[in-house]
Amino acid sequence: MKVLFIGDIVGSPGRDMVKKYLPKLKAKYQPTVTIVNGENAAGGKGITEKIAKQLFEVGAQVITLGNHTWDQKDTGDFLEQATNVIRPANFPEGAPGRGYTILNVNQHKIAVINLQGRTFLPAIDCPFRKADELIDLVKKETPIIFVDFHAEATSEKEAMGWYLDGRVSAVVGTHTHVQTADERLLPKQTVYITDVGMTGPRNGILGMKKEAVLYRFLTALPARFEVLKQGPAQLNAVLITIDSETGRGLDIVRIRIDDDHPFNSDQ
Ligand SMILES: [Fe+2]
Repeated sequence: MKVLFIGDIVGSPGRDMVKKYLPKLKAKYQPTVTIVNGENAAGGKGITEKIAKQLFEVGAQVITLGNHTWDQKDTGDFLEQATNVIRPANFPEGAPGRGYTILNVNQHKIAVINLQGRTFLPAIDCPFRKADELIDLVKKETPIIFVDFHAEATSEKEAMGWYLDGRVSAVVGTHTHVQTADERLLPKQTVYITDVGMTGPRNGILGMKKEAVLYRFLTALPARFEVLKQGPAQLNAVLITIDSETGRGLDIVRIRIDDDHPFNSDQ
């Protein structure tokens, strides 16, 4: 089984990149399932029902979220209805929506779990213990388990990779928006990358207009961040291969599309 995972889609430039390149990526790599992180898809913060629908229409099958999950109006109601839009599973009991989903693809099932880190992010429930709980649950249905760990600290992400090595097929990091070059197969056959990187405007700071971010760094005063709408954009993703029978990770390849790495070049 091949899983294409597209990293944090930022605003309309990110959505446009997905619309433009996802069909081409599908034609080239023939993924069995496509998962995207959409937590920055609506103006950089959160997601709306309409945007989720658009992402499904252009070929996403599961949308994962993160710390901006609740930033748009009515997200709770929408998440209650949506099966394949999942938010971090370790939000405290009672949060709307769900933290995992199980998808049927080509006579196999893949479980997708979304978790959020607690280092330099709000102190929600323990992602490690929540992972234990959910793995026990989904293992009854499938050995193919994909985890999007949305976290700030590299150490926490690496810790999760090692913690889940041999128990899930893949642990991919999201949230920090810059693709890391540490993709690997861990010894017990879990594929891992610290951060897939983001899909959105290239000449800002993590997708935002740089002026406001710089103002905040230089003055320590509050500033309103906005998605950069002009200029080039990039798409960051990974293609993961999983043994469909055992659920073991086999391979992970980074994908980056931008001016320096145009599509169909040496990726
Ligand atoms: Fe995030």
